[in-house]
Amino acid sequence: MCGIVGYVGFRPALPVLLDGLERLEYRGYDSAGVAVSGPAGLEVVKTAGRLGRLAEKVDAAGRGRALVAATTGIGHTRWATHGAPTDGNAHPHTGCDSQFAVVHNGIIENHAELRAELESRGHVFHSDTDTEVVPHLLEEEYRGDLAAAVRAVMPRLRGSFALAVLAAADPETVVAVRQESPLVVGIGKDENILASDIPALLPYTRDVIILHDGEVAVIRREGVVVTDAGGRPIERTPATVPWDPQQAGKAGFEHFMAKEIHEQPKALRDTIAGRISGDGTAELGEIGLQPEEAARLSKVFMVACGTAANAGQVGRVLVEKLAGIPVEVDIASEFRYRDPIVPPNSLCVVISQSGETADTLAGLKEARRRGARILAITNVMGSSVAREADDVLYTWAGPEIAVASTKAYTTQVMLLSLLAVWLGQARGTLASDQARTLVAQLRALPQQVEMVLSQDAAIRGLADRLAAHEDVFFIGRGIDYAVAVEGQLKLKEISYIHAEAYPAGELKHGTLALITDGVPVIALVTQPDLRDKMLSNIAEVKARGAWVIAIAQQEDDEVATHADDVIWIPRTNPLLTAVPAVVPLQLLAYHAAVKRGCDVDKPRNLAKSVTVE
Ligand code: M6R
Repeated sequence: MCGIVGYVGFRPALPVLLDGLERLEYRGYDSAGVAVSGPAGLEVVKTAGRLGRLAEKVDAAGRGRALVAATTGIGHTRWATHGAPTDGNAHPHTGCDSQFAVVHNGIIENHAELRAELESRGHVFHSDTDTEVVPHLLEEEYRGDLAAAVRAVMPRLRGSFALAVLAAADPETVVAVRQESPLVVGIGKDENILASDIPALLPYTRDVIILHDGEVAVIRREGVVVTDAGGRPIERTPATVPWDPQQAGKAGFEHFMAKEIHEQPKALRDTIAGRISGDGTAELGEIGLQPEEAARLSKVFMVACGTAANAGQVGRVLVEKLAGIPVEVDIASEFRYRDPIVPPNSLCVVISQSGETADTLAGLKEARRRGARILAITNVMGSSVAREADDVLYTWAGPEIAVASTKAYTTQVMLLSLLAVWLGQARGTLASDQARTLVAQLRALPQQVEMVLSQDAAIRGLADRLAAHEDVFFIGRGIDYAVAVEGQLKLKEISYIHAEAYPAGELKHGTLALITDGVPVIALVTQPDLRDKMLSNIAEVKARGAWVIAIAQQEDDEVATHADDVIWIPRTNPLLTAVPAVVPLQLLAYHAAVKRGCDVDKPRNLAKSVTVE
């Protein structure tokens, strides 16, 4: 969704702002803008459309002007919520007399009443956005101290927001405030940088202060002061982000998604490293949940959205089978409103790559309110989900930039598998030697993913054919069905091919009517105990003319006699096939999208981090 960048330092601000916005492009946007402050006051350049258009406008506006020399500024990529994506609705917004420039992520829910109030006092609005109330409110509250004015405005605003503000009267300061929408301040030498997401900071620093809700940061070249909403200073020690700038680049791949698919072996190795005890069993020393408490758990909830929820579906099977605890998987936007029954001794596992998904965060709070202990699985250090949880397990996947989640999914499944083994150990449902075997099999997964990736060229050949179709069906049973759901999501979100996943046994209850000559059906057949049933389901669709691509474990040669094409995955424990089996589905989706000329990393209408409800 929207992205924020701010800079105060010794460099010309514009290149830093434009570079930072480019690094946040993946979040999704439809317009962009910058504001810098200098001796001549605030200068704003903004436009509907892509950053290339903004750079052209900046170039045209900047020649021979103070704009290019300014060393303080803010920038924004907007994903329209209130008002169409036009030049006028792009951020930054200024008030009546351009004394303030404001960029904003999130939604100000009471903007309509504030606007009416401000207009009745003579303020003139220039946009349809909810954001514009902020500079007008600042005009009323400003008495020579920008941070104080921002603090005075904050209680007037309802909703979730992150703001960065410039004032003409205070040209070397950026003031930022966070309320349920992420903001991070990068601490440099003689320069400090603000961003809504870490990748924008990485070229300058890895030392960051992650702002908490209600905090205000006053950012100047010489330092950063964080206060609470009442203006009381808060001591914050910067944390060091374990990502490097190379990880946030494309490393020679055409798209971030391709790079991230190929990074999975390393991401999986990094995620399991340090979580295996000396005797080869699972060790999750970083969580406070004690084995005795694990033994008492009556229920586990998995709450997440999209791909993370699909990982939760795999986690459900594993926790139920290995630890014997009933599990419910909930889409967070449903969980938060469905009045869930949360029995005593419940654990809620909240899964989120970004750690900032608004619905997931709300689900977490709902589960906590109902008495569950919260365990977060997230990829972003210090994210909202990480901070709100009782315990955190980080996926060490590195930055995931492509909108389509790939390495986040496999590392989430890896952690959920380890968690299931750890719970099984703690509850005595798994003997030590069983746990050791499973852990050894988990450790082999990165290499198995490498073997799947080595089939890239052949998978691409299938994807090129798939790209000509408008409907694709995915079928599977048990864990294979959970993986099928992720496969169909990947395909539709980046290639715009209509795709649906079905439990294979359910097809004949309706969907079989859609299987006609040549319709592609991707059938996952990795579960030995369900294999014969799957072969019958394949026969059913074949009889209606389907083109069947099977995903099967090596050596199961009989599958090849039923399907038209087979993608082989290395043999592993049937409980652990989700990781190697999803990789061909990611590659199929990727290559089909490329073949269809789609914008793979930034699919239409989607944003990487969904920070509004
Ligand atoms: O950051 P999160 O894991 O909370 O994001 C949840 C979903 O928005 C996300 O997984 C989405 O479904 C992906 N774009 C799918 O590839």
